[in-house]
Amino acid sequence: MENFSFYSPTFFEFGKEAENKTGELVKRFGGGKVLIHYGGGSVVRSGLLDRVKDSLKKEGISFVELGGVKPNPRSGLVYEGIDLCKKENVDFVLAVGGGSTIDSSKAIAAGVVYDGDFWDFYCGKYITEALPVGTILTIAAAGSEGSPDSVITRESDMMKRGASGDAIRPKFSVLNPALTQTLPAFQSAAGITDIMAHLYERYLTNSTEVEVTDRLIEALLLTMKHEGPRVIENPDNYEARANIMWAGMMAHNNSCGVGRSQDWTSHDIEHELSALYDVAHGAGLAVTMPAVFKYVMKHNIMRFAQVAVRVWGCCMDFEHPEVTALEGINAFRSVLISIGMPRNFGELGAKEEDIPVLAQNLCYGNGRDGKIGGFVTLTKGDCEEIYKMMV
Ligand code: NZQ
Ligand code: ZN
Repeated sequence: MENFSFYSPTFFEFGKEAENKTGELVKRFGGGKVLIHYGGGSVVRSGLLDRVKDSLKKEGISFVELGGVKPNPRSGLVYEGIDLCKKENVDFVLAVGGGSTIDSSKAIAAGVVYDGDFWDFYCGKYITEALPVGTILTIAAAGSEGSPDSVITRESDMMKRGASGDAIRPKFSVLNPALTQTLPAFQSAAGITDIMAHLYERYLTNSTEVEVTDRLIEALLLTMKHEGPRVIENPDNYEARANIMWAGMMAHNNSCGVGRSQDWTSHDIEHELSALYDVAHGAGLAVTMPAVFKYVMKHNIMRFAQVAVRVWGCCMDFEHPEVTALEGINAFRSVLISIGMPRNFGELGAKEEDIPVLAQNLCYGNGRDGKIGGFVTLTKGDCEEIYKMMV
């Protein structure tokens, strides 16, 4: 196990009607004037936004609102949010929605207290200061409710990039699994896929002797394998949604990733797809992951064979561990397809002729040096091959 620092101070309020405590929580974490940030309207239609406002009013907390965050959130609304916060002297940003809304809120929170262009953070500058952020999560997926990360797309060139810093870890997150019952099945499935991707990105490591995190990841993957299909079958299954919601947080607050190198190849490859075609991040990952895994598996066959046996129930073929490894990847892919995720470029809406552009942006866009991947170092040529495997 490698040395690590881990600081994860988010307060979680989990369970039915937890959103009614929002006012108390904002007060507890020092908010006096709040920006309520939300997406395309699901929280208005469900009545959640009104309940949140009532809870703030009960505590005498004033607020301004900014809706309209799109999935794969854009820089334009972030600039608008920063201006609004400065004009209104906002001191707390409250995200009501999914990963996109939370990430846009984090970008605004960091941008308000920064003299330069907030995009600097999305070119590698670490975030050390931000307004406090709180979240009310409506979809189990990105894990942004407990993560120090934010992913934004710059509209001028559709560059989708991430920023990081403990300053943007939410001060609190309200997790009411019942809020996710209104999700369309496709979004639930995309979220399930993303959660599993966050686990795989950490499982693919070059660190040795990391039993505790290996076993945590396997436990969470087993939970997702069990609960994912149950939620797709019965969207009102509160208990399954509850398990998924907490697994989604644990998958990405990095308690499963400490002390080990991590991969993030599938995420980098996918982010180019969601930037260019505006597809749901989880759907892009469903097509990306099997291709990446098949391409890199020879680097450490036993790692793929291990997850195949421990999570996917495959029998270990000691003479041909590559057979077991491949069986595990195929079993994972079958589960993703069974919950409604796309299988290839065509079903995703991606085009083969765009592969050179995708690979170029991936490896050289926004100041990158031509190489990606924490598990196996991949060049632009490798990435083109992987995209071709997805066709
Ligand atoms: O915008 P509204 O109307 O709210 O609709 C949303 C949106 O259309 C809808 N939705 C959310 N909750 C709902 C609901 N509809 C009905 N009922 C509900 N309860 O679902 C759609 C997707 O929402 P979005 O916020 O985009 O989903 P998700 O949480 O998957 O976030 C995706 C974004 O997070 C980034 C992704 O790249 C993508 O941009 N990620 C962020 C990470 C982080 N900050 O740590 C890590 C991830 O790996 C990921 O990259
Ligand atoms: Zn993700």
